[in-house]
Amino acid sequence: MTHSTDEQAIEPSGEPFATLEEIYVRARERLDADAWAVLDGGAGAEQTLRDNLAALRRWSFRPKYLSGVTNLITSTTFVGIDLAFPVLTAPIGGDGLFHERGQCETAAATAMAGIAPVISEASRFSLETVAAASDGPKVMQLHAWGEPDEFLALAQRACRAGYAALCVTIDCPTLGWRERAMSRRYLVPEEQWSGNYPATGASAAHRLISGFGSDWTWETLAQVRRRLEVPLLVKGVLTAEDAELAVGAGVDGIVVSNHGGRQLDCLPATMDQLPEVVDTVRGRVPVAVDGGIRRGSDVLKALALGADVVLVGRLTAMALAAGGAVALSAALRLLRAEFERSMLLAGRRSLKDIDRSMVRLSAAAAQ
Ligand SMILES: Cc1cc2nc3c(=O)[nH]c(=O)nc-3n(C[C@H](O)[C@H](O)[C@H](O)COP(=O)(O)O)c2cc1C
Repeated sequence: MTHSTDEQAIEPSGEPFATLEEIYVRARERLDADAWAVLDGGAGAEQTLRDNLAALRRWSFRPKYLSGVTNLITSTTFVGIDLAFPVLTAPIGGDGLFHERGQCETAAATAMAGIAPVISEASRFSLETVAAASDGPKVMQLHAWGEPDEFLALAQRACRAGYAALCVTIDCPTLGWRERAMSRRYLVPEEQWSGNYPATGASAAHRLISGFGSDWTWETLAQVRRRLEVPLLVKGVLTAEDAELAVGAGVDGIVVSNHGGRQLDCLPATMDQLPEVVDTVRGRVPVAVDGGIRRGSDVLKALALGADVVLVGRLTAMALAAGGAVALSAALRLLRAEFERSMLLAGRRSLKDIDRSMVRLSAAAAQ
């Protein structure tokens, strides 16, 4: 951490936004009601969406003062990808709703920030177009549906385009029951999510939307894993059982996720499930988490609960809506600066010093 970066974030000179909250407010102002319902909404009664946020608030820090902390070390490596700080942007489908260049802006901003994006398959833009938007490392996200050969064809396209790793989302055999958009009689227009499906591939995507389901099993995943040459993450693990199956299928990393409360409602909060997954995995593969991360101290809590890195979903989409790569760059600077400030205030110099002993359930939550 340099002090100049910090000072810029706190007393911005020429910075477009002084706080992350300003970015969220700008996104709300800029988006129309349909796009806002898609971005901000969850599934069903939105219990999981709320619980993700509430679970983070239940944890408090146990600081270690006079630890002689000066020069922070926040860089890390995740599935072979170097990150300046332990954050990736989460995949955001329907990206053209939020910015006319969608995930191309995400690719540009993450490269500037020294981190990596997980790029959604369900994009307005082809994966090749997004790949060309920056030189930075990228992860390509695909869904666990359709014929394995169709999946592998898309995966191989991603490898040819230079993606460093793949991420398969398992909690989306069909779309969640998204009532906010339903009550507006709104369906995300096909051109916003079909950039990767020239003709044939669209059939699987249509099946997904129509509630057809997926015939994939862990064995399907193990088979495709064996036929891939880049690291494969699995996104959507929430239990010890699925974590064990994922490791058994040969995956290279796990993302603890409930899709930001957008798929099955009434799933537990990700921060409540993270320790269970971490304890099951026992370091055999790295563990990422997403859900409810809105500020730097949330990143620190997730790491304290055992995550190696976090993914940020709505934060990314809101920043795109607030002003594309410029706003997302500002958001990532602010996120990093607050994360580093929190580390320093809590007396932890490097990521290695962050463990479960630095958080406790707040008294109210423990009752
Ligand atoms: C607008 C929107 C689109 C999303 N599209 C995808 C997607 O295409 N694939 C996927 O795996 N997850 C998708 N997600 C889920 C995110 O990747 C991530 O799991 C979730 O947003 C994390 O929670 P958070 O929004 O509270 O950070 C989407 C989320 C949002 C908000």
